[in-house]
Amino acid sequence: MAKPVKRKDFLWMGWGALAAIVGGSGAASTRFLVPNILYEPSQKFNAGPAKDFPFGVSTLWFKQQRVWIIRTSEGIYALWARCTHLGCTPNWFIAENRFKCPCHGSNYNPDGDVLAGPAPKPLWRAQVEVVASGDLIIDKAILENRPGVREKAPFFAEYA
Ligand code: FES
Repeated sequence: MAKPVKRKDFLWMGWGALAAIVGGSGAASTRFLVPNILYEPSQKFNAGPAKDFPFGVSTLWFKQQRVWIIRTSEGIYALWARCTHLGCTPNWFIAENRFKCPCHGSNYNPDGDVLAGPAPKPLWRAQVEVVASGDLIIDKAILENRPGVREKAPFFAEYA
């Protein structure tokens, strides 16, 4: 036959349960004071000396940063290699002078304008700046694709 629980032991069990509840909810509440931050690599990077980029489309940073750097006689801009249809990564076809998306066939010219396919708008241009050292700094967190705006600073860096 089981021994009956004494009143004193019963009270201690109650205090123990209360302490567990208060401790658990206190720990859970403390967790809310720590923000849920997702640390991602910076979208800004140094692409190196601007003078090193040849005229035309450079794929130097395509694999590592998903951008093409385009140099013209007036300056430099950077296109984000992300199709504006569903986000696939297009490829550069130098012989055809266009970017082609492998997913649904969108084509873009070196300005980023849509030539064919379902893409609804031009490729995005990233913010670019040639700093005093001569290096080209690209920030993919700041984007623009509106004709008339994308051809000006900070999405186009004048560079001779
Ligand atoms: S994602 Fe590029 S055409 Fe659909």
